Amino acid sequence: MRAIGQMPPEMLSGDGVSIRLSGYLEPCAPTHVPTLRYAIETAGQTVGELRIRLGESEDLKRYFGQIGYEVYPAFRRRGHAGTACRLALEVMRDLGYGEAWITCNPENLASRRVCGRVSAELVETVDIPVDHVMYEHGIRQKCRYRVVL
Ligand SMILES: CC(C)(COP(=O)(O)OP(=O)(O)OC[C@H]1O[C@@H](n2cnc3c(N)ncnc32)[C@H](O)[C@@H]1OP(=O)(O)O)[C@@H](O)C(=O)NCCC(=O)NCCS
Repeated sequence: MRAIGQMPPEMLSGDGVSIRLSGYLEPCAPTHVPTLRYAIETAGQTVGELRIRLGESEDLKRYFGQIGYEVYPAFRRRGHAGTACRLALEVMRDLGYGEAWITCNPENLASRRVCGRVSAELVETVDIPVDHVMYEHGIRQKCRYRVVL
């Protein structure tokens, strides 16, 4: 396994979808972690974005999740998020991670289906602590999904 700190792949493709590295975000708040930002592309068009949050802290694995994704409304329900998420897992494997945690709100059925698409295991649903920044944003629970890489 390669060490975390390896240069991330600039582009990965599969099933008509590519993820292209578009930026590296430095932490700008105490709860933030270094983040790789990827554009989700299909047929040369950007249809969404994906973030890989680097690190393995409990806060990340329990609440924020290591992979976040968004497909723009006009391009949804075509399988793009599922494919992009699978490519993000390849990036994480390439960077040396042995597992990946994805979290989503229980009512976010689309995101939960994306987790199903990548065969992530629903480990548990946790309550957000009242002193957590997510609680301030009205989030009360997170489903925690795990993928062994
Ligand atoms: C979640 C999101 C990325 C899914 O994108 P997408 O490209 O439409 O997802 P896919 O086409 O890969 O669909 C994956 C599955 O979700 C299902 N799905 C998509 N939208 C759905 C919805 N609104 N309700 C229920 N299921 C939905 C699809 O039918 C598919 O199911 P299947 O595997 O049984 O075929 C998109 O809805 C989105 O950007 N939402 C806003 C941001 C967000 O919630 N991000 C996740 C934060 S954890």
